Amino acid sequence: MKTRVEVMVALLVSAFILTLCAASAQAQAPPKSFDLIDWNGGKFVYGVDYYPEHWDEVQWERDAVMMQAAGINFVRLGEFAWVKMEPVEGKFDFAWLDRALKVLNVHGIKAVLGTPTASPPAWLYAKFPDIAAMDENGVRYRYGSRRNYCLHSPSFLAATRRVVSAMATHYRNHPGVIGWQIDNELGDPICYDPYCRAAFQKWCRAKYKTLEALNKAWGTIFWGHTYLAWTEIPLPWNTLGGAHNPSLALDHRRFHSDAMRDYLKLQAEILRKLSPGKAITHNDMGMYDGVDYSQLNAPLDFVAWDNYPMFGENYSDYAGTGLGHDLMRGSKNNQNFMVMEEQGGLPGWDIFWGRQAAPGLYRAWAYQAVAHGADGICYFRWRTSRYGTEQYWQGVLDQDSYPNARYQAVSQMGKELAQITGLLKGSKAVSPVALLVSPDSRWAFHIQPLVKDFDYNRQLRLYYSAFRRASVGVNVVFPQSDFTSYKVIVAPSLFVVDPALVAKLEDFVKKGGTLVLSYRSGVKDEHNVVTNQTLPGPLAEMAGIAIHDFDPQTNQEQELEDGEGERHPARIWFDILDLTTAGSIATYTKGYYAGKPGASFNQYGQGHVVYLGTELSKSESYSKLVGALAEAAGLTLGPSLPEGVELAAREKDGKRILFLLNYTDKPQTVSLGQALQNVLTGQSEPAEVSVPAFDVKVLVNP
Ligand code: GAL
Repeated sequence: MKTRVEVMVALLVSAFILTLCAASAQAQAPPKSFDLIDWNGGKFVYGVDYYPEHWDEVQWERDAVMMQAAGINFVRLGEFAWVKMEPVEGKFDFAWLDRALKVLNVHGIKAVLGTPTASPPAWLYAKFPDIAAMDENGVRYRYGSRRNYCLHSPSFLAATRRVVSAMATHYRNHPGVIGWQIDNELGDPICYDPYCRAAFQKWCRAKYKTLEALNKAWGTIFWGHTYLAWTEIPLPWNTLGGAHNPSLALDHRRFHSDAMRDYLKLQAEILRKLSPGKAITHNDMGMYDGVDYSQLNAPLDFVAWDNYPMFGENYSDYAGTGLGHDLMRGSKNNQNFMVMEEQGGLPGWDIFWGRQAAPGLYRAWAYQAVAHGADGICYFRWRTSRYGTEQYWQGVLDQDSYPNARYQAVSQMGKELAQITGLLKGSKAVSPVALLVSPDSRWAFHIQPLVKDFDYNRQLRLYYSAFRRASVGVNVVFPQSDFTSYKVIVAPSLFVVDPALVAKLEDFVKKGGTLVLSYRSGVKDEHNVVTNQTLPGPLAEMAGIAIHDFDPQTNQEQELEDGEGERHPARIWFDILDLTTAGSIATYTKGYYAGKPGASFNQYGQGHVVYLGTELSKSESYSKLVGALAEAAGLTLGPSLPEGVELAAREKDGKRILFLLNYTDKPQTVSLGQALQNVLTGQSEPAEVSVPAFDVKVLVNP
């Protein structure tokens, strides 16, 4: 029997252990806000992706000297070096990485280490062939390339735990390692092997609880696809005829996205536990939509992403990249982020992709990131590789290490950022306008793309670009985001809606917000099943319209004529609107529905809903729409900008920091209405400010 004292001691010990557990549970959660500049010891995070293992050690010191001279204070290391870290199962060698870190740290350069799981060693595939994913025909991938692993393979998960734990333990107290990047660009492939099938069945069971509920939600009565056992549920693999139940397919997309998040979480938890106090991130892919970034990024301290503007051919079209930045920022509640891979040279693998950009453009693109809320820029990569698949993917330096024009541009920016770090610190990109991105709708359109040329991302870009041309910043929101601070929410083709989202949007409009919807909104419920309400389904009342007929694009030309008699060419899809409480703002001019409304405006509560039943072919038409919206919603538009010129702002304590970016090869002039101070030169700029070709001005009100 225990004495009273023993019982007291036991109670105290267990209370102590409970407190410890609570503290470590707290330490496991990412912080509510994160300041990248504080994290990097007060310096703007300015870096390069560096692969010391690709180069002779004698080169490391020379590299570090050149980096320091360019203002580089940060590197990302190690992300594909699993075989070098664990050459033999369970035997680790970090000596080479320690030596590289030492050289870099001496030159004031801190590091984020990539966990190397994107590139498992050949010996791991040889020992456990089932770490490789299986394609939709049931064939397993084999060793080679990278990121072709199965997210549910027990052998792969065990190997992941082992290597991540070893790294975290080894670098736990290393002052030169300030954080972790988990894996690399989580995304494809989707794996169709038995592990993933069993995991999907488990996921479905957790979601629906009973098979009756699943069968009802998915409408499995169609084609007799009713399931009588959980183990019967297939993956949307290759079948003769191809078409799977769209409800199953949507849940499978969600499942795959959750699986990536869970894999990331698995690593994040090990890192938080074994190397507390170091920040954790991942390198996302911007507009890539195989994953819901608003979920994936939740376990991270801050968002980082890989920004490659040169995927477009038209280098002066900045909107796609801007939207990428804003979506990434929006995926974690508009916290400032960093670019983990910023374009540092011409891209290419087997061939060069694109044409060379003027050296100044690389700097302008990096400034664009800063303008949109980046507090860190890290160029991919320091130097072009001599080996492997990416011999044609230029780094800042070429293989000969000559301090070329790109290096000069990077160095110039390094100096400038050091100069303006204090000004930037704590400032954020803010906006009264939000673009609602619905991962469910995006996936549902992948599953059933509607018509040949439909593109959800293009819809986003069309509206986004129109606001940006009018110098209005845009935040990206997701269905679970807070909508309350916005004046305008644009939700293009909001195809899949659930009652919670409908209620949030109604509330937003009733309280005075302006909501813009476009064609094919409110068509599907959260199970990807078509509503039996009149379209736009649960959004019809707030839009004040009823759609009893529509016309998918069949190569015919169509136009909308607005109230001023101006005609706007339209394409892709034509919703023919009946007005219930809304007024018409534009009517079709052709075909059997000529004269019928194609766009409407409805007062609902204190706010308004605009519905555009088609896609307009010309950017000017969207600009006109934005002008009308600004009037309705009380938005102030900025100066009009020449093509290829962007104006973006960050704000701090009510003061704005303006970034005027010229992506064109000619000087451009913009009228800003007042003289401002150029913080890069210290000089005053006239109200009519001119920016040289491929150059940037950072301006404040003195
Ligand atoms: C990125 C990737 C890098 C590198 C780069 C160039 O997507 O994260 O590791 O491969 O592309 O191909």
